[in-house]
Amino acid sequence: MALLTILEYPDPRLRTRAEPVAQFDDALQRRIDDMFETMYAAPGIGLAASQIDWHHRLIVIDVSEDRSEPLVFINPEILSRQGKAKTEEGCLSVPGVFDDVQRAEQVRVRALDRTGAVFERDLDGMLGVCLQHEMDHLDGKLFVDYLSDLKRDRIRKKLEKDRKERAARRAADTAQGHRAL
Ligand code: NI
Repeated sequence: MALLTILEYPDPRLRTRAEPVAQFDDALQRRIDDMFETMYAAPGIGLAASQIDWHHRLIVIDVSEDRSEPLVFINPEILSRQGKAKTEEGCLSVPGVFDDVQRAEQVRVRALDRTGAVFERDLDGMLGVCLQHEMDHLDGKLFVDYLSDLKRDRIRKKLEKDRKERAARRAADTAQGHRAL
């Protein structure tokens, strides 16, 4: 298995609309395993393939406390939505930022599992929120898109500053002859 690089906002590749998954081969199984490893290591509770720069409709989720309930949703479709609820969300592609987003309280989803078998499931609570958040990723949408322009602009500037500071620190380390592994 391998850890994958997670794209970070405002990387334009996060805006790509993902294509359906068509082949359920060994490469897909490896990619699913790598996505779980990457999500658990981050740590996060959900990851869409768009975030690792593979633009196909694949999502992995595990909202359990002890990381024992891995779920795979391939080519997911929401069949129905009920109610509304506001939840504080974050995103591995928008590190360090958390804010309230309103979504459907309950959704019924149809998707394929990792073997290509179709299933339907009702999702609510954090699992329902997570699926809706990850499905947005597949359409090139991020949770910060639900916030005000002012907030989103502030977030973008903060992340760009963080990234520049990290790059400057790395350059300084290299200049001093330090080498990271
Ligand atoms: Ni996300």
